[in-house]
Amino acid sequence: MNRKDQAAEINQLLQGKPAEEVITWFLKDFNGKVALSTSLGAEDQALTYMISQVDKTADVFTLDTGRLFPETYDLIDLTSKKYGISIRVMFPDAARVEAMVNEKGINLFYDSIENRKLCCHIRKIEPLKRAFSGLDAWICGLRREQSVTRKDMQLVEWDENNGLIKVNPLIDWTEEHLWAYLKSNFIPYNKLHDAGFPSIGCQPCTRAVMPGEDVRAGRWWWENPETKECGLHKKG
Ligand code: ADX
Ligand code: SF4
Repeated sequence: MNRKDQAAEINQLLQGKPAEEVITWFLKDFNGKVALSTSLGAEDQALTYMISQVDKTADVFTLDTGRLFPETYDLIDLTSKKYGISIRVMFPDAARVEAMVNEKGINLFYDSIENRKLCCHIRKIEPLKRAFSGLDAWICGLRREQSVTRKDMQLVEWDENNGLIKVNPLIDWTEEHLWAYLKSNFIPYNKLHDAGFPSIGCQPCTRAVMPGEDVRAGRWWWENPETKECGLHKKG
């Protein structure tokens, strides 16, 4: 069976199952070949907690773009200590960042979509590809509700772009369900969530949203909703 069909089959098998069960299944059946990619956002904190309850040695990695909020760094530290796990931190290639910044400016991302995508590529995508080495599947905190670009995503899908199976255990979760889960399990979360930041990425590219505004309105707020993906989750 090809891996695309395998993803569809696993999706059928696990559809409608609780997130904990999906995670337990992958940690067992893809043992050593699956990792959680965490941005330390609210969704990823719920997933990190679930994983730590099953296997404290499971692979959990984060992409440190060099432009994260101080609150995010604090949470990396607090989360690893609280759950006794080690979060693998991936850094961008220093020479590529240096060349980009010196050629195009320290805050190049505000100047054009092309620059913004270049920065995301060097600071996130390239380290992500390295993080994938030896893996067959990755777990993410995507929810359909988050954005127009995410409404067709599946619980388990073939990620053509990265050549991996992608697992979204919280795909059907609502914002309300997520917060009830975090609170009832005393899971630490980024302090910025209490200051009007529902979705947190790099500091220069994330701002607070007004009550009632879209949850991703504060990400790359100067761009159209349709272009607002950094490439981590683009299709095909
Ligand atoms: S993004 O593409 O706009 O940056 P978002 O912040 O919504 O993504 O997060 C969606 C999922 O992408 C997260 O649940 C996580 O799996 C992954 N992700 C996003 N940013 C990072 C990061 N810095 N490090 C690791 N994984 C990340
Ligand atoms: Fe660069 Fe902004 Fe993308 Fe972060 S989100 S990698 S700072 S363009």
